Amino acid sequence: MNVPLLDLVAQFRAIEGEVLPAIRNVIESQQFIMGPTVPQLEAAVARLSHARHGIACASGTDALLLPLRALNLAPGDEVITTPFTFFATAGAIHNAGGTPVFVDVDADTFNIDPAAVERAVTPRTRAIIPVHLYGQLAAMERLLPLAPRYGLKIIEDACQAIGARRSIDGEWRQAGELGWATAYSFFPSKNLGAWGDGGMIVTSDDGTAERLRRLRLHGGAKQYHHDEVGTNSRLDTLQAAVLVAKLPHLAPWSAGRREHAAYYSRALADVPGVRTPVIDPQNEHIFHQYTLRVERRDELQAHLRARGVGNAVYYPIPLHRQPCFAHLRYQVGSLPAAEQAAREVISLPVYPELTTVQLDYVIDAIRGFYR
Ligand SMILES: Cc1ncc(COP(=O)(O)O)c(C=O)c1O
Repeated sequence: MNVPLLDLVAQFRAIEGEVLPAIRNVIESQQFIMGPTVPQLEAAVARLSHARHGIACASGTDALLLPLRALNLAPGDEVITTPFTFFATAGAIHNAGGTPVFVDVDADTFNIDPAAVERAVTPRTRAIIPVHLYGQLAAMERLLPLAPRYGLKIIEDACQAIGARRSIDGEWRQAGELGWATAYSFFPSKNLGAWGDGGMIVTSDDGTAERLRRLRLHGGAKQYHHDEVGTNSRLDTLQAAVLVAKLPHLAPWSAGRREHAAYYSRALADVPGVRTPVIDPQNEHIFHQYTLRVERRDELQAHLRARGVGNAVYYPIPLHRQPCFAHLRYQVGSLPAAEQAAREVISLPVYPELTTVQLDYVIDAIRGFYR
């Protein structure tokens, strides 16, 4: 049997009757740039995030870069983030003119450790970027007080966590609700994926929203008038149409992922050498990834591959150990929890269209390896 890590063709077959007419409408209108589905999507994603504004842009990377650029970072300004994330989180800090400062993660959730964040704050700290890794929120209630205390901004990297939420003081708070600005990615493999690149920033700060809209269009609020230098980072109308058509499916898809995750975790709980994902009890996880920590990870990976089970390691090299950040002088052992995670994690197929037969096949392959 073959169980791919992700099966976007299965998703397409299920929704083609909804998405293809939406695409056709855009083509009939020929409004490929900033057509009406763009503001429609912006409003819908802002609503989902309990935020006032959505600013669609070209990618999740740009959704991080634009708010960072809005901070006007000067050389030496620091932005604290996690080393255990996709490269874009730290790359955007660098490209906005800042210096990434990496702090260690919580060994259970893989999310940034708030105590380590506070220890890393200096007079040069301008922002913190928590990443809601694999689809569960970081401990926002412990990070938020740092913003007024140290005069810094919190930018949520929710590229893997659209629709995820966290119970804080008995209330559900959405990804995108609490930070100064939040980045989403619509990369095709995300829980809400476009048919190409795409991203969005949400914010409830009116002035920031206006600034971000300008920055995404070469810095001009009015055509041919440029108050500052921005860039071209729009979301295509065609991509917005795909995403508007897919959005009603997001909640049931994420619920399907949660069910598959629970099924795996029940079946793998007693396997020696395997630790199933820890869900912080305050979180509703959307399982963008279902990620185990295992012994003999690389051997397990080869075993699964040989049996047709798709899998991946997110992420094999923590960012503080990347050659491009060697000048920051982190050593092996500087951030031990992230380094250990990089050695032990493996993600399994968890897309909503998986069948029980496929899930059981993956489970048997893992149980067989550790037997
Ligand atoms: C945590 C995280 N941040 C940023 C990004 C960048 O998004 P994109 O690939 O849309 O530029 C991604 C996704 O790839 C991501 O997973």
